[in-house]
Amino acid sequence: MGSLACSSHAKSDDAAAPLTNGGIPLSEATDLNPDPTIVELNLEARPTGITVLPGVETLALTYNGSIPGPLIRAHVGDRIIAHFKNGLSEPTTVHWHGIRLPAAMDGTPATQDPVMPGGTFDYDFRVPDAGLYWYHPHVHSALQVAEGLYGAILVEDPSEPASLGDEVVMVLSDIDIGPDGGLNPAVNDPVNQLFGTEGNVLLVNGRSKPRLAAQPGRRQRWRVVNAARSRYFQLSLAGHSLTRIGGDGGLIEAPVQSDMLVLTPGERADVLVTPTGAPGSDVPLMWIPYDRGFGTALQRQPEEVLTMHLDEGPAAEMPAVPQHLRTIDPLSTLGAIERDLTFLYDGSRFAIQGTIGPDQMLMGKTGTTEVWHVKNVTDWDHPFHLHGFAFQPLDAAGVPIHEWKDTLNLPTMKQIDFVVQFDDRPGNWMFHCHILEHSEVGLMGMLMLEE
Ligand code: C2O
Ligand code: CU
Repeated sequence: MGSLACSSHAKSDDAAAPLTNGGIPLSEATDLNPDPTIVELNLEARPTGITVLPGVETLALTYNGSIPGPLIRAHVGDRIIAHFKNGLSEPTTVHWHGIRLPAAMDGTPATQDPVMPGGTFDYDFRVPDAGLYWYHPHVHSALQVAEGLYGAILVEDPSEPASLGDEVVMVLSDIDIGPDGGLNPAVNDPVNQLFGTEGNVLLVNGRSKPRLAAQPGRRQRWRVVNAARSRYFQLSLAGHSLTRIGGDGGLIEAPVQSDMLVLTPGERADVLVTPTGAPGSDVPLMWIPYDRGFGTALQRQPEEVLTMHLDEGPAAEMPAVPQHLRTIDPLSTLGAIERDLTFLYDGSRFAIQGTIGPDQMLMGKTGTTEVWHVKNVTDWDHPFHLHGFAFQPLDAAGVPIHEWKDTLNLPTMKQIDFVVQFDDRPGNWMFHCHILEHSEVGLMGMLMLEE
């Protein structure tokens, strides 16, 4: 099995992860707290020179000196304490995407004053659900995320089925690099603003086209997050099917096999792959253009995300994948408060309609269940994201799907419906399009939950 042969390419404060991660290094946060139920770390946002393309330095924004920021690993129920320091020259916050935490820890300008340059903030919360989550700024996020500020949080549950496969955490993103290695300046190109700007280099754990070490027959469990600011990742692994066993909020009930995996910005997937092929061969994982409304106008070609390299290994005896992974009780929609929202574009401005009051504020109550109907009358898909709460999408018959989501594609000229239960966490919760440029120009709303 490929070990961590290549040393980290950036000056990171954090040690390389002990998980071999398929030979694609990912720095891991150093846990400063001896208590096994507390993960305590220092997290600093700061500009750092990193090498993305060979031979050229790129001045990017990093957490603790690396892109992505350190992987935070915890067990379900653990407490995470992150001593955050802002080493940027602009304000920022840290938002913990998908985690059901108290509003005061959600890291948005609606819940805290932005951390000023040189300032600090202690984030302190528990992680109640197993799954892959992530963190990123919620101030100028289109810019700050595009320049490198994002990292993954893996919350493990020891009671999950064992031996699903060798775990590989993949933080997918892109970055926009000019020929001199510098970041391309954020262009105020109206077309880019309309579609959301995509970077020109695809990244897996901060690397361009890395090599993933694998062995024929030895199953891998890919924990994938799309941390790009705008790009959808539609993935296909030549000659292989992908078995999805989980999504945003942990495992799903039963494995689902498919040839293609689509992840919108912000979404996560838990996928099993059984490598097949001759030792020595290479299998490309391809990014396939996903049409989110601009048709073929942008003339994009499939691109390699990584190469899975097959090595000879000891004959692998992998236990079969359990057909039942977890039981998820559907939320009851009986007596739920219904809301209708519409994503629209009037030719010059994006907006979410159906929200009431100033600043697109929705008023709600803790302890209630709501059904949201979110309609999209724009010509493009948008990834819908709700802060603080996981929801269950409803199928065409209005029946909850047995899966926890916090980010869901809202296709052009379609509607999504979901049921969500607001527990006892009052406060201001954002919901928005996770194409971060869109969220900054109108596809953003706020739910104010009162006791
Ligand atoms: Cu991933 Cu409002 O964020
Ligand atoms: Cu959008």
